[in-house]
Amino acid sequence: DGTTLDDLINRDMNEVSLRVMNDKELYELEMERVFARTWLLLGHESEIPKAGDYVMRDMAEDNVIVSRDRSGEIHVMLNVCPHRGMKVCTAEAGNAHAHRCIYHGWAFRADGSFIGAPIEKEQMHGNKRSKDELGLKKARVHLYGGLIFATWNKDLSFEDYLGDAKFYLDQLFCRTDNGLEMLGPPQRFVLPCNWKIPGEQSGSDGFHTLTLHRSLMEGGIMGGTAESIYDTAPGMYGVDLSVPQGHTLRCLEAAQTFKMFADVSFEGKSTEERLHLLPPPGITKELIPQLFRNLSEDQVKQLANIPPQVGGMFPNILVAFIFAPRMDGGASGALSLHTYVPKGPDKVEFVNFIFAEKDAPEDVKRDMLQNAIWSTGTSGTIEQDDADTWPQIMRNSRGHMSKTITLKYQALHGHERPEGWVGGGDLYPGFTKDDTQWAWWMAYYNMMADA
Ligand code: FES
Repeated sequence: DGTTLDDLINRDMNEVSLRVMNDKELYELEMERVFARTWLLLGHESEIPKAGDYVMRDMAEDNVIVSRDRSGEIHVMLNVCPHRGMKVCTAEAGNAHAHRCIYHGWAFRADGSFIGAPIEKEQMHGNKRSKDELGLKKARVHLYGGLIFATWNKDLSFEDYLGDAKFYLDQLFCRTDNGLEMLGPPQRFVLPCNWKIPGEQSGSDGFHTLTLHRSLMEGGIMGGTAESIYDTAPGMYGVDLSVPQGHTLRCLEAAQTFKMFADVSFEGKSTEERLHLLPPPGITKELIPQLFRNLSEDQVKQLANIPPQVGGMFPNILVAFIFAPRMDGGASGALSLHTYVPKGPDKVEFVNFIFAEKDAPEDVKRDMLQNAIWSTGTSGTIEQDDADTWPQIMRNSRGHMSKTITLKYQALHGHERPEGWVGGGDLYPGFTKDDTQWAWWMAYYNMMADA
C-alpha cells in the first residue's frame, strides 16, 4: 500500500510500528526474504539415531521430512510429491527406508531420490522425465553440535550465519565428547500471534523477567527478594551481547546466579576449581575434563565464570540455559531451545526441545527434563506467563488506532568491552538493556531490505 520498511521501522528513533505484527503482505515478504534465506533449526540428530528414522518438521509453512539414510547421512526434503503435490509422508515420526505417496504410489528413498511408481510403464509416458528429475526438493543441511539446521539458501554458509556467536554457543552445544541428547520428542502448541512477538523477545529481553515473571522472583526462584526485586535480581546483571546476524545472548555470572541457592565464592580459585565448585547445568564432575578437550581455554573460562544463559538465534530460536540446585548439593538445571514457527500472519507454533549431555547419568537427565518441563516447557511456569501476553499484543495490532502506536526501544547504541573479555560481538555490560532487542530488529530490517 505504499508503506516502506522505513515507515515501519524507524532506525533513528528506535521505533517499530505495531502494524508489523499483523500485515499479510509483510508476512509473505518475510517468508521469501527471511525464512527461505536463513538457516532454520529443525531438531537434533539424537531424534533419528538409526538408518531410516525420520521426523516431520516445518521450515516456516513448508513441511519437510528429516531423515537418516542407510549411510547415516541426514537429509531434509520438502514433503511435497512432485506428481500432484500430496504429502509423501503423513506420519509425525517413524522408520522407513522408502516413503510411498498414498495418492498414486510414487516412492522415494530416505535421501529423497525417486525410486519409482507402481505401474511405472503406464504412468511414465508422454513428456517423460528422468528419475533424477523426480526426486523430492532438498534443503541444505548442517549439523551443529548435533542440532539439525537446514536452509533453502544455496550460498549462506553456516559459519557466516553464526558469526561471532559461535564462540558463546559452542559452550552450550559443543562442549562434550558425545554431545547432547534430546530428551523425548519436542513439546508443541499453537498460539494466536505473529512469530515476531516471541521472536523479538528471544532477542534477550531481560526486563520482562522482572515484571511478567515476577512470581518466580517472589518465590525466590530467580534471586532477589519480593521487596527489592528491581535492585537485587542477579539475573539482571551481566553482559548482554549481540552480533550483526541478529543472534543475542545474556551472559550472567555463575556464582552470582547461584547465590539464590547457596553462597559460593570463586575468589582465588582456578577455572578448574570453579567448575568443580559449581559445574554448569548438566555437567557432572566426571564430564569436566571433556570441557577442556572440546572447548578453547577462553571458552571454558567463560563457561565457568559468566556463561551465556538466555538469548536467541535469529530469526526464531530461543536459547535457555537455567541453573537449579540438586538435592545432593550440586548444580543441575535445564537446557532448552524453542523455535517459533510461523503459521500465518497471526499464528505461531511454539516448539520446545529439551536437552542433556548424552554422557550424563540417568538421574541428571531426569532432573534436566523435569526442570525444563517445569520452567520453559509448554506448561512451564515461565511460558504460561509469556503465552498469555503474546496473543494480547497480537489482539492490539488489529485496532485501527492501536496500529498507529510505535514500540519504543530505548537502546543506548553504546557498547563497551569489559576488561579481559575475549569473545566478539557488541557487548552491553551491567544491568540488562534494550540494545540486544534492537539488534534483533536491525538484523530483521537488513534481511527484509535486501531484495
Ligand atoms: Fe504423489 Fe500422485 S501425488 S503419487
